[in-house]
Amino acid sequence: MNDVLSPETVKLDTVPLSPHIATEIRGLDLAKPLDGATIAALRRLWLDRAVLLFRGQTFTQEDLLRFAGYFGEVGKRGLSGKAIPSALGGVHPDIMFISNIRKDGKTIGALPDGEMNFHHDMIQTEIPHIASLLYAIEVPSYGGDTCFASGHAAYDTLDPEIKARLEGKRAFHHYQYGSQKRGEPGRASDLVDEFAHPVFRTHEENGRKAIYVNRLMSLKIEDMEEPESSELLAALFDHAEKDEFVYRHQWKVGDLVIWDNRNSMHARTDFPSDQRRLMWRTQVRGTQRPY
Ligand SMILES: [Fe+2]
Repeated sequence: MNDVLSPETVKLDTVPLSPHIATEIRGLDLAKPLDGATIAALRRLWLDRAVLLFRGQTFTQEDLLRFAGYFGEVGKRGLSGKAIPSALGGVHPDIMFISNIRKDGKTIGALPDGEMNFHHDMIQTEIPHIASLLYAIEVPSYGGDTCFASGHAAYDTLDPEIKARLEGKRAFHHYQYGSQKRGEPGRASDLVDEFAHPVFRTHEENGRKAIYVNRLMSLKIEDMEEPESSELLAALFDHAEKDEFVYRHQWKVGDLVIWDNRNSMHARTDFPSDQRRLMWRTQVRGTQRPY
């Protein structure tokens, strides 16, 4: 351990992946424990860039959990998430499969097929996870990319008039677990969560504001009549999803990505249903309500 070193002494080998979001870090083997100064440097970079990419990693599930633990406490998987069965080497109930692989006609993982609209993981809950991690084990030959959009860049460039109309407002979020399409309120079931959070979220660690609504889950602005609510949400979605705020990640086997759900949202592109895609996913628990 190099805890005696100040964080400034660690120089990470970094490559920015787009103007506003996502940085690749080279030269780290995450299957080995990291020293305190490196962890501090990674955390600072993460708070600035929201998405960190590490390529060519060879991981056990324990390695993934240890790395997630550098960013907080491992959080519970969503209600539709499927843990890796112990027969397949599962070591922790909160590492889940994201996969389209089927055995006897049944999918072994969650969120199996096709595209998925932009969303913030677990925004439909009272205290959403702050971070999610995906580790790529099998990837299709094309497609299945993950697009990450910077909520800070979108907020900073939002039309001032729209900003003024929404300042201090909250949005209502609804998610039916396992769904990859926009929800419909009133279809409550055991697999639905709903919660309202500020339209503009202040990041508790970097102090910046981000647009905090998304096309998959955000259904309504509280205390606002239709059609104004829908019109403003549509304007926010269209603005926040602009290409200029987005990094599109094309997965390779061995990629690990950690992203911040407080200041970024993500979407998945379509991919061939006859090609296997398998990821391990885990998440980092939030400690407070968004404000
Ligand atoms: Fe997600």
